[in-house]
Amino acid sequence: MPDFAHAFARRTRLRGGDELTAILAGSPPGVLSMTGGFPNPATFATDELDAIAGRLVREDAAVALQYTPCTGIPSVREYLIERQEELQGRRPATRELMVTSGGMECIALMCQALIDPGDAVAVEAPTYLGALMAFGAAEAEVVPVAMDEDGLLVDALAERLEAGVRPKFLYTIPDYQNPTGRTLPLERRRALVELCRRHGVLILEDVAYRELTFGGASLPTLWSLAPDVVLQAGTFSKILFPGVRLGWAAGPADVIAELAAAKQNTDQCAGGLGQRLVEEYGRAGGFERHLPAARALYASHWAALSGALAATMPAEVSWTEPSGGFLTLVTLPEGIDTLALRPAALAAGVAYVPGPPFYVGDAGANTLRLSFSHLGEADLAAAAERLAGVVREALERRAAA
Ligand SMILES: Cc1ncc(COP(=O)(O)O)c(C=O)c1O
Repeated sequence: MPDFAHAFARRTRLRGGDELTAILAGSPPGVLSMTGGFPNPATFATDELDAIAGRLVREDAAVALQYTPCTGIPSVREYLIERQEELQGRRPATRELMVTSGGMECIALMCQALIDPGDAVAVEAPTYLGALMAFGAAEAEVVPVAMDEDGLLVDALAERLEAGVRPKFLYTIPDYQNPTGRTLPLERRRALVELCRRHGVLILEDVAYRELTFGGASLPTLWSLAPDVVLQAGTFSKILFPGVRLGWAAGPADVIAELAAAKQNTDQCAGGLGQRLVEEYGRAGGFERHLPAARALYASHWAALSGALAATMPAEVSWTEPSGGFLTLVTLPEGIDTLALRPAALAAGVAYVPGPPFYVGDAGANTLRLSFSHLGEADLAAAAERLAGVVREALERRAAA
C-alpha cells in the first residue's frame, strides 16, 4: 500500500480535532451519552418536511435541484432578510446577507477571507471547539478573553485592546453559549459593540442556539445593535435539522462580498433543495408551529438534569445555569482531570466531553461539558447519577493518595 503521508499539507499537522471526531462518532452501546450538541430528533417536523421536499422535487426541480447563485437563491435570501427583520428588528439590505452551508461554514469563510497566518483572533474562554479548530487550521494566534457567569468580560477585552492586541475579529456566542450555556446581558452587549466600534474590531456573532430559550425573552442580537461592526453567523441546524446544512451570514456588505468570494472556492453554493425547504417551511409558519415544543422539551430536559446534578453531585462540584440551548459546563474540584477520568466514566456507562479542548492552552482541566438535548429525562437522571458516582470515587482516590 502506498503511503501518502509525505503528500499531506503542513496544516494537517496543526489540527486538533480528535475530540470533535469522537463526538460525531457517537458512544458505545449501553453508555448514556451527554456529548454532542445534537438537536433531539423528536423536534424534527418529518411529516411537514416530507410533504415539502416531495413537492419541491416534483414541482420546483429546475430551481431546487439546480446549482444556485453563490449567495443563495434570490427568494431564499429574501425570506432570510424578512426573517431577520421579524426576529431581530432590523432589515439587512440584500448585499448584507448571504446563505451559507451552516454556521460552521460561515466561521470557515471568515478564516479564509480575513486570517493570514499569525493574525490574532479573540475568543471567549472557553468557546466552541469547531471554531477553535478552524482558527487553528488558519494559523491564527488565538487570544482568549475571560468570562464570568454572565459571559464575556468586556473589560477584559478592553484591557487586551488597550494593551495593543489587534484581533482581526472577536468570535463570540452571546446566547446559551457553547460550552457554558451562558448568556451575555444587554448592558454588556451594548458595551461590547461600542468598544469594538471604537477600536475598529469586527465581531463574529454566532447565534446557533439563540432561538432556543427555555421561556424568557430573547435579548437583542449584537448584529441588530451594531450592523456596522458585527458579522452574524446563523444556522438552521438546532432549530430545524442539521442534515439540511444551512445557515446565513448577515453583516457589512464588504465583508459579505469577501465571504461570497471565498465560498466560490469551497462549495460554490449551498444545496438548493435545503434552501428551498427552509424557505417553504418558514413561509408556511413551520418555525412558529414547532419551536415552542422544542423549547419546552429542552427546558424540561434541563430541569431533569439540573435536578439530578443537585441531588447527586458532591458539594464541591458546580455547574453553569443555562436559560436556553443544550449545554452546561461542570467544574470539578481542582486537581481532578476530566480527560483522565473519561475511561472510568465510560466504564460506568456515561459519556461527557472533557473541558480542555474548549480552552486555549492548558486551562479547564477540571471542567467537562454536558449536553442535555438528546437523552430523555429518565436517562439524564441516570446519567447524572453515574457521573456523580465516578466523581465521588475520584475524590476518594484523591483523599487517599
Ligand atoms: C456555537 C456553534 N456554532 C456553530 C455550530 C455549527 O453549526 P452548523 O451545524 O450550522 O455548522 C455549532 C454546532 O454544534 C455550535 O455549537
